[in-house]
Amino acid sequence: MDFKPFIRDIQDFPEVGIVFKDITPLLKDAQALNNASNSLYDLINSKKIDKVVGVDSRGFIFAPMLASKLNAGFVPIRKVGKLPYDTISESYDLEYGSDTLEMHNDSILKGEKVLVHDDVLATGGTAKAVCKLVENLGGEVVQCNFLIQLTFLHGASKLKGYDVKALLNY
Ligand code: PRP
Ligand code: MG
Repeated sequence: MDFKPFIRDIQDFPEVGIVFKDITPLLKDAQALNNASNSLYDLINSKKIDKVVGVDSRGFIFAPMLASKLNAGFVPIRKVGKLPYDTISESYDLEYGSDTLEMHNDSILKGEKVLVHDDVLATGGTAKAVCKLVENLGGEVVQCNFLIQLTFLHGASKLKGYDVKALLNY
């Protein structure tokens, strides 16, 4: 299935000069949603996965669906201050300033095989921080799995050594 017709470009959102990839047309279409989750699952290519890590907030849409298909657990990575239990944290640079992601410190066991999922790979700062969080708990990142990769931002270059896969490349 060609998913690109279901991705809508929004000019100047959330800021002037940014073209936002809006995935809600894909999400609201029953067949596109089902096919996209199946195709994301196929990218994993039958590798063994213990935990799927999804990134707050748009990574939370497909990550639990993938976890369910993989018979794996789901782990949320959240923006700072949102998780109730003990956390580890990792900061990453934004265009202006920085941001921090957190994960519960009991969410991954040493040696567990982890799939990292997010909706979009842009500059790669988010995904790189997520990989560090997983590895700080002793997890092994088996794949970084995205719905969309904005190849012109070269995020994959921040993820050297990881298996980076995306359903759609722009
Ligand atoms: C967006 C997107 C990815 C991240 C990619 O999330 O959903 O998580 O940016 O950017 P990067 O590769 O340059 O780090 P955002 O932080 O805007 O938050 P949201 O998911 O809550 O909308
Ligand atoms: Mg996000």
